[in-house]
Amino acid sequence: MFLYNLTVLYLAAVLLKQLVKKHWQEGEDSFEPPVVSDNEKDIIRKMLLLALDDPHRKICTAIGMAVASIAMYDWPELWSDLLPFLLNLINNQTNLNGVHGAMKCLVLLSADLGDNMVPTLIPALFPSLLTIVSSPQIYDSYIRTKAFSIVYSCTSMLGAMSGVYNAETSSLVVPLLKPWMEQFSSILKIPVQSENPDDWSIKMEVLKCLNQFIQNFSSLIKSEFEVVLQPLWNTFVSSLRVYELASIEGTEDSYEGRYDSDGSEISLESFVIQLFELLLTIVGNSRLGKVVAANVKELVYYTIAFLQMTEQQTPVLLYHMPSCFPVYLNKE
Ligand SMILES: *[C@@H]1O[C@H](CO)[C@@H](O)[C@H](O)[C@H]1NC(C)=O
Ligand SMILES: *[C@@H]1O[C@H](CO)[C@@H](O)[C@H](O)[C@H]1NC(C)=O
Repeated sequence: MFLYNLTVLYLAAVLLKQLVKKHWQEGEDSFEPPVVSDNEKDIIRKMLLLALDDPHRKICTAIGMAVASIAMYDWPELWSDLLPFLLNLINNQTNLNGVHGAMKCLVLLSADLGDNMVPTLIPALFPSLLTIVSSPQIYDSYIRTKAFSIVYSCTSMLGAMSGVYNAETSSLVVPLLKPWMEQFSSILKIPVQSENPDDWSIKMEVLKCLNQFIQNFSSLIKSEFEVVLQPLWNTFVSSLRVYELASIEGTEDSYEGRYDSDGSEISLESFVIQLFELLLTIVGNSRLGKVVAANVKELVYYTIAFLQMTEQQTPVLLYHMPSCFPVYLNKE
């Protein structure tokens, strides 16, 4: 691999993705002849997996995307070793590039999951994800954040299935509740950090997961909710000071309008919006809302503080001020 120029390698991976779209599967809308032969397909699939641990993140991403685009057609029927291979990669702590590549792939696969795959994927994958999120000394916060985003995708899918397959989804969710709520708690109990989008991103994924669990499975959540409540409150209260400094006073960076390498928004604002979305879900939940009702005074107090005008809104308001307060101005 090191013989080739990086740009060429990257373009090759991108090109491959195009090729898959046009020539992989006959009968697809995007198909154009000729079709790739079965033999070639086999070789391409094998080579891609071997390149997933490339040390260059951009290459790794491009390879991951190519794998995911093939998986759309071939997985699981024609590519039965894909999942075992990815699991092997994410479980190998001596090969962190491989963990990175496999996570990229799994993020893409889980975002586009069929309901037939979820029952196999969750028991196979979640124990490894749990190890990843609970080992910050080994895995960086990017990888841990992506692990939570895979959990979110899978639980959303489970949630969508829960209407029809209630008993099946419940039996998948119940064993997840305790260990994952504990992980949510251990991330949320650490106060929100200033000017640290990595911290906001991982907390934001945790809030999304929690929101999904509550929206779809609140009847299964019992004592686990109390475990997460205090840490969630810590996140809420500590985020106010950070929000004031960055968005209201404008003395710190709020990473407004910025995105990570996967196109996920990393601004403080997107984190705060997610936080309020979760609070709304909790307050609107007939059972869990009661737990919060005891502390409603504090909740309102902090919520009002969040409503202060942001630095960005100030010029707009000053501009409109004369028409807002005509009487006051006339007196002057
Ligand atoms: C883990 O990765 C290392 C380095 O790539 C490799 O030598 C080793 O065989 C891998 N272990 C397993 C169990 O796959
Ligand atoms: C699951 O949650 C989604 C919102 O994320 C909601 O639209 C859907 O109705 C819920 N389904 C069930 C069965 O609770």
